[in-house]
Amino acid sequence: MQHLFSAETYRNRREELKLKVGSGLCLFMANEESPMNYAGNPLRYRQDSNFLYFFGLSMPGIAGVIDIDNDRSILFGDDPSVEDVVWTGPVDSIGELAARVGADQVRSSADLDDTLLGREVHFLPPYRMDNIVRMSALLGKSIPEVKNGASEKLTRAVISLRAHKTAEEVAQIEEALEITAAMHTRAISTARKGMKEAVLAGVAHGIALAHDCDVAYPIIMSKNGHILHNHGHHNMLRDGDIVVADMGSENRMCYASDITRTFPVSNKFTEKQKEIYRIVLDAEEESIRKCAPGIPYQEVHLFASRIIASGLKALGLMKGDVEEAVHEGAHALFFPHGLGHMMGLDVHDMEDLGEDWVGYDDEVKRSEQFGTAYLRLGRALKPGFVLTVEPGIYFIPELISQWKEEKKFAQFINYDEVVKWTDFGGIRIEDNILITDEGSIILGSPIPKGIDEIESLKL
Ligand code: GLY
Ligand code: MN
Ligand code: MN
Repeated sequence: MQHLFSAETYRNRREELKLKVGSGLCLFMANEESPMNYAGNPLRYRQDSNFLYFFGLSMPGIAGVIDIDNDRSILFGDDPSVEDVVWTGPVDSIGELAARVGADQVRSSADLDDTLLGREVHFLPPYRMDNIVRMSALLGKSIPEVKNGASEKLTRAVISLRAHKTAEEVAQIEEALEITAAMHTRAISTARKGMKEAVLAGVAHGIALAHDCDVAYPIIMSKNGHILHNHGHHNMLRDGDIVVADMGSENRMCYASDITRTFPVSNKFTEKQKEIYRIVLDAEEESIRKCAPGIPYQEVHLFASRIIASGLKALGLMKGDVEEAVHEGAHALFFPHGLGHMMGLDVHDMEDLGEDWVGYDDEVKRSEQFGTAYLRLGRALKPGFVLTVEPGIYFIPELISQWKEEKKFAQFINYDEVVKWTDFGGIRIEDNILITDEGSIILGSPIPKGIDEIESLKL
C-alpha cells in the first residue's frame, strides 16, 4: 500500500491553499503513464509533485479539485472493472483512496467537464503534453492558452506553501538521505581500476531499488566530472582518476535527496587532487555555516565563489584582487554553476512552477552574469527551506581554450598555469541542509567527505 501522510495533513494543506487563492476552483491533474512504445510498456511512473502535495495519491487516471467557492475538495476517478483487475490485481476503491487523503467527495472522471464548466479555474503550469491536450479539451482552450494560461495566484500560493518544509516532510527527506548515504559509501568503497563507471552507477542504483525506491534524478557517475550533466557511464576507471558521483534516492513518498561526493579510484587522492578538494570542501562547509534566515542565498553563492577564487589564487591559477575577480565573474571559468537550489518533492523543487518565482523575489534579482546566472535560488533564506549546497571546481578544456583565446579576464586568470590542468576533470561536494530559526543544519547522517574519511572507506 502506498505511504501517505495523515488525511489531516492533506486537508490542512488544501485549507491553507483556499485561504491564499481566495476564490474559484483549483484543478490538479494526475500524471498519466508514459509509454516506452505501447501503453502496456510504460516508463517508470512518477506522480506530479503538486498532486502529491495536495492529494497524496500516486496513480494515473485521477484529478483533484479544490472548489474554494463551495468549500470542498473532490477526487475524480473511477473504480477499476474486473477486466482491469485481471491485469492489475485488486486495488483500493476510489472512495477508500479519497478517504485516505481526506477528500470531501468522489466523482467519476466523466463528471470533470461539468464541474469545470463556467467556473474560474486555476491551474498550475502544465509540463506534460498529454495533460495539456486533455486540459485543452476540458477547459475549451487552445493548446497555447493552456500552456500559457496558468494562474499566477495559484502558482505563487503553491510555492509559498511548498517552500516551507514541515517536520514530517523533513523526516521523509532524511529517510531518502539514509538510502543515498548507502549508495555513496558503497560506490566509493567498490571503485577499482579496470571497472567501468557503469558498474558503480549500477551498484548504487540497485541500493535505491532494493529499498523499494528509485533515484530522484539520473545518476552522474563520471571521471569526467567537469561535464556537469554527464549521464553516460561508459568510461573505464584507471588509477589516478577521480570520480564525481552525484546521486540521490527519492523515498517511498517521493521526497528527494541530492548528494555529491568526489573520490579517487585508487586508495589515495594525488597531491594535486587534494589541493583542489580542500578548496571545494572549505567552500562547502563555510557556505553551510553562513546559511541562516534572512541571508540571501545569492550572497552565499558569491561568498563561496570568493573562497574558490582565493584558493585558486594561492595555487597560482588565478591572480589579482579576489573580490574584484568574483565581482567581474572570472571565477566562473572554474565554477560555472549555482551554489544550490531548493529541494523537496522534486530534486530541483518546484521548477515546473517557474524558477524565478521559486528562487527570486523583488529584493533579489537573478544575475545575468555567466555562472551566477545559473543560480536557481537567490532570495533570502527562511526557516523551513531545504536546499542544496554544492560548490565545485572544474577544468573544462573547451571553456578554457575559448577564454584563453579571447584573453578573457587575463588580469585574473593565469592561463599559462591553467592550461597545465586541462586533464584534471572536476570536483564537487554537495549536501542538503535545512534552514532553522538560528542557522542551518545538514540533513541526514553524515556521509564521509573529509579526505581521510573518503580514503579510509577504500581500505
Ligand atoms: N543533481 C542535480 C543537481 O545537483 O543539481
Ligand atoms: Mn546533485
Ligand atoms: Mn543539486
